[in-house]
Amino acid sequence: MRRGGVALVFALALAALVGCGKSDPGGSGPQVTFNTHCAKCHAQAGQPGGPGIGGSRGPKLDKIGAEPGRNAEWIAEFIRDPKSKRGDAKMMPAFKGTIPDEQIVELANWLAAKK
Ligand code: HEC
Repeated sequence: MRRGGVALVFALALAALVGCGKSDPGGSGPQVTFNTHCAKCHAQAGQPGGPGIGGSRGPKLDKIGAEPGRNAEWIAEFIRDPKSKRGDAKMMPAFKGTIPDEQIVELANWLAAKK
């Protein structure tokens, strides 16, 4: 059990390193912002940062850009303050002040392109 766990952690670390090197050598960009701030709720089982067992707390965002009304502007505002866009949003924190605004905009554009 213990050895298996260590091997798994090692494999994941290696996968993360390889993944980073390929997509963004600087270690920044929307994917990194997402992994840092959003994946703990929005990654689905099997995705990086997603739950090993059970469901995710947030909705799947794989095709968010295809949802009606979910353009980059809407998504950026939602990230800044979810309640400003959806009165029923309860769980997702407002990221205004936590994530620099240019990164929020970058993240929103990246999400809006997911269709
Ligand atoms: C604490 C868990 C949590 C974190 C962290 C989180 N979210 Fe969410 N998110 C949710 C939940 C839950 C919802 C559904 C609305 C609600 O109840 O707040 C949601 C909804 C959304 C929606 C969909 C809104 C819609 O109606 O189409 C978007 C887009 C979104 N989140 C983006 C993000 C981004 C980008 C981040 C990182 C900056 C993030 N979320 C971080 C939990 C989270």
